Amino acid sequence: MTTHPATTHPASAHQTAVTDEGTAVPAGGALFDAAPGGGVPDPDRVLRLINGYWATGVLGAAASHRVFTHLAQGARDAAQVAGRAGISERGAQTLLDGLVSVGLVRVEAGVYRNTAEAATYLVEDSAVSLSAFAKLKLAHMGALTDLPQVVAAGGPITDAVVEVADNPHWQELVKAIAPQSVPAARLATTVLGIEQAGPITILDVGGGSGIYSAVWLAANAQARAVQLDWQPINAIARRLMDERGLGDRFTCIDGDFHTTDFGSGGYDLAVYSHIAHQEGPQANTEVFTRLRRALKPGGALLVCDYVVDDDRTGPGFPLIFASEMLLKSHQGSTWRAQDYRDWLTKAGFTDITLHSAPPATLVVAR
Ligand SMILES: C[S@@+](CC[C@H](N)C(=O)[O-])C[C@H]1O[C@@H](n2cnc3c(N)ncnc32)[C@H](O)[C@@H]1O
Repeated sequence: MTTHPATTHPASAHQTAVTDEGTAVPAGGALFDAAPGGGVPDPDRVLRLINGYWATGVLGAAASHRVFTHLAQGARDAAQVAGRAGISERGAQTLLDGLVSVGLVRVEAGVYRNTAEAATYLVEDSAVSLSAFAKLKLAHMGALTDLPQVVAAGGPITDAVVEVADNPHWQELVKAIAPQSVPAARLATTVLGIEQAGPITILDVGGGSGIYSAVWLAANAQARAVQLDWQPINAIARRLMDERGLGDRFTCIDGDFHTTDFGSGGYDLAVYSHIAHQEGPQANTEVFTRLRRALKPGGALLVCDYVVDDDRTGPGFPLIFASEMLLKSHQGSTWRAQDYRDWLTKAGFTDITLHSAPPATLVVAR
């Protein structure tokens, strides 16, 4: 039996459809019948999700044209944003409308302003600015069209990009993601008592831009840090640390952390941030075991990652981030709190605590 819509508004509680046999039935079938109060849910949220790439696009384009920075510096409307950004007024108005739609900009009496979130995270040149990341994710968007096949296959159908040794993906990524680790690194400074810890030595495995070393060496003038990463990434970190005047206490080891020796009893603190999600249970347990050996007695391991609740009910960001790892890795995922406890216990750690640093979690193991 096929049906033909007999009304125009799909959300109408009173709509009907007509069967080939001419019988009128409520459109929506089971959904219509099951909805509380006899109505159907509003489709707005589902339509927004189906078209979620509009938000990524508008946000990425606004970041590319520094719209949030122009608003912060006093642009008040589309004409002024267009003038400052060197873009069309029609384009500027469309971006502003889209940004109002997603709640990043508000308009009052024709004057546009950043919301508090946009002012904090999307204006450029702040330590926590996600503006570069918004531009990068726009470029990543096309890869999602592979997701139906990736889900069917249970893993990447092209390169497992995070597993390809020493590849350009990381060079694009590490500077753009560094601001995301700033709040976590600052919280860890307090949780681990880094400011008062004296002449400590830190090992950062997969340190990327060197953001943890930057925050911690700035907080503790006696601390020294060693970063293990691929050579081109270490070169980026070295440059950034030199720019911050911290380069004299920062050294690098070039190589693959799966195979490079971490040594024995040499470090007060080790950090493994946003790496566990690219690895499987066995590799994470192995790395934790080798890090335990690399620590001095009483030393601490800090793991920072998107950690899923044990019953998989949340939090939202870690749950959906797993799709990124399905696309890009053979073994990676967002792991549950209990997974981290199990692996760290197997590795020989006995004191494990979790600290919320949304959307990430800090896992401290001693
Ligand atoms: C997602 S970034 C995390 C950077 C940093 N830890 C942070 O939290 O901001 C992952 C980093 O791990 C490095 N990496 C990934 N696989 C690696 C491997 N097998 N050996 C060495 N470094 C690796 C990448 O080059 C990149 O710098």
